[in-house]
Amino acid sequence: MKILVTGAAGFIGSHLCELLLKDEENEVRGLDNFITGSKENMRGFYKVHPRFSFAKGSVTEKEFLRPHVEWADHIYQLAAPVGVKFIMNNPVHTILDNVRGIDNVLELAHQYNKKVLVASTSEVYGKSLDFLDSTGKRSLSEEDYRIEGSTQNHRWAYANTKALDEFLSLAYYKQYGLKCVIIRFFNTVGPRQSSQYGMVIPNFVSQALKGENITVYGDGSQTRSFLHVFDAIQAITELMITEHAVGQVYNVGNPFEISIKELAERIIEKTNSSSKVRLVSYQEAYGAGFEDMQRRTPNIDKLVRTIGFKIRYDLEAILDSIIEYQKMKLGMD
Ligand SMILES: NC(=O)c1ccc[n+]([C@@H]2O[C@H](COP(=O)([O-])OP(=O)(O)OC[C@H]3O[C@@H](n4cnc5c(N)ncnc54)[C@H](O)[C@@H]3O)[C@@H](O)[C@H]2O)c1
Repeated sequence: MKILVTGAAGFIGSHLCELLLKDEENEVRGLDNFITGSKENMRGFYKVHPRFSFAKGSVTEKEFLRPHVEWADHIYQLAAPVGVKFIMNNPVHTILDNVRGIDNVLELAHQYNKKVLVASTSEVYGKSLDFLDSTGKRSLSEEDYRIEGSTQNHRWAYANTKALDEFLSLAYYKQYGLKCVIIRFFNTVGPRQSSQYGMVIPNFVSQALKGENITVYGDGSQTRSFLHVFDAIQAITELMITEHAVGQVYNVGNPFEISIKELAERIIEKTNSSSKVRLVSYQEAYGAGFEDMQRRTPNIDKLVRTIGFKIRYDLEAILDSIIEYQKMKLGMD
């Protein structure tokens, strides 16, 4: 199998390449423009693995992308601007890169008759669960309504471009029979995730290890749930080869919830840190008008039904793996 991974130098993409290369039948090619990814992430296979090749460039450049799509049997479309901070600081790129990238990937995949897995996000649900909560619904299912804020709040642009990725993929599937699978990643975490772009666990761990105050936005009562990247890539590689996943949307996440304040305290405890929790208003962090959701918890029944998905890494194991990684990066071991 020839497999193309866009965003291969990123957090999820680099782990995915490693998993795919474990199968001796696979040849893997990575594409990336290094906007948030790095060669360091690919250290284990870039220029060393005989079945891995790489091309530097952007999925927004159709003629750059063409030969790679033509070469591949399967395409994992992960390349996208990522991270709340990055997105808030790069409003134009967020929209154009996402839309142009998916347009090119789907058009070429259709032209050369290739199968695509499209990475979407739990952001597409917006604040839906905060409203559904009052009806007694405790988690988000794939067919739930999406509730998003004003166009004047750029946060929602990322969610809407990803929703457009989904619409366009499903349109290709319905109109042309393009084989595609759409996955909505909920917070996916693990080693190699950057603390630079506003990702919560890497930020907290890095602050705790340096003995800096841990900045928690809002009052910290908002909850999130976290899935280890190893569980996430296991799920998506299984979905990619499951015939009845074609034309479907799947939540990929962990239903276990923890409040952000409790998460910060757990990390302080686990790292034996002298850090204190510092509450910072959203306004101070992201400017006036920024909105966040109180809860964002996946219902993964559909994923379990389709591939028998099982979570192997609980929060303790997740935190241990990230703390170990960040210690190594900071030269603390
Ligand atoms: N990590 C999460 O919790 C999470 C949650 C929801 C959705 N996702 C989605 O999963 C995918 C991977 O995210 P990640 O967490 O690994 O982030 P990441 O930033 O580590 O990886 C994205 C990669 O794509 C590359 N890239 C960006 N724009 C590109 C372009 N135009 N052409 C080529 N390469 C480009 C970046 O350089 C980076 O290496 C993204 O599509 C993201 O939206 C991730």
